[in-house]
Amino acid sequence: MKTNLSVQNLQCTRCVSSINNALLKINGVYGVEVNIANQRVLVDHTENVSLDSLYKELDKLGYPVATQDLFGERAGEWDLNPVRINQSEKFFKQVAQVVPLLPNFKVLDFGCGTGLVGLHFAPFVGRLVMVDSSPGMLNELHKKLSILALDTTKVELLSDIAKHKENDIDLIVSMMTLHHIEDVSALLAVFFNKLNKDGYIAIGDLMLEDGSFHDEYVPHYGFDPQDICAKLIAQGFQLVQCASFNELSKETKNGLKDFEQFLIIAKK
Ligand SMILES: C[S@@+](CC[C@H](N)C(=O)[O-])C[C@H]1O[C@@H](n2cnc3c(N)ncnc32)[C@H](O)[C@@H]1O
Repeated sequence: MKTNLSVQNLQCTRCVSSINNALLKINGVYGVEVNIANQRVLVDHTENVSLDSLYKELDKLGYPVATQDLFGERAGEWDLNPVRINQSEKFFKQVAQVVPLLPNFKVLDFGCGTGLVGLHFAPFVGRLVMVDSSPGMLNELHKKLSILALDTTKVELLSDIAKHKENDIDLIVSMMTLHHIEDVSALLAVFFNKLNKDGYIAIGDLMLEDGSFHDEYVPHYGFDPQDICAKLIAQGFQLVQCASFNELSKETKNGLKDFEQFLIIAKK
């Protein structure tokens, strides 16, 4: 697999060779490309090399991984895009048709952003756990929650799903976040562990695309949903539904393009 890291302090060919030498010594790393102009390091490695070990090694060498909050920069205008509003409504409606939502349910929205998807569940369930690694997105959600003043549903905001206890969630939802995750199988394993027995997972994301959906780097240009289904089954999930659920048009570098999205629902 390939991991593309945005780092700081890359200056000269000496940086390139010290990064090459150090990373290639890690068991499972078999290729390194350093790009000084883009301040990026592309690492080719096996699945057992953790992101953490790459971060630590680069940090030790003096090239800390840049933690720019790219989503946070767009958080203030996130909800102004009607495509996002529409896709989150469709996602919610389809999930609610399949998963029986109960007042004592705890729903976790992974990559919740400003809460466009997760907040749809608020009137129907007891607790929401909203997880996002972007401080800017969580800040926007926090502002929204203070206006909404939900009285019956308890909401918890978290920056890292690892901080949540295991066997505790009845439904995990995640919309348009999986393609931002380098190691999808590892995340699905985390989801499995966080779910209660009989808990559900609902993942919405892009079908395979040509890379024009994003201007910035993303680890996956959408997915073949069958690949995600196979990964879910490998983790021990039972498939409930796997279908296309939405189409959207987006202005790209090559003009207006249509993209398709899938929704997969599975059960622990
Ligand atoms: C395309 S946005 C989708 C936001 C929201 N689900 C929606 O549909 O409006 C992807 C979100 O995933 C978050 N994200 C990316 N990687 C993450 C990670 N490892 N853990 C938690 N959130 C992550 C980003 O910060 C961003 O808010």
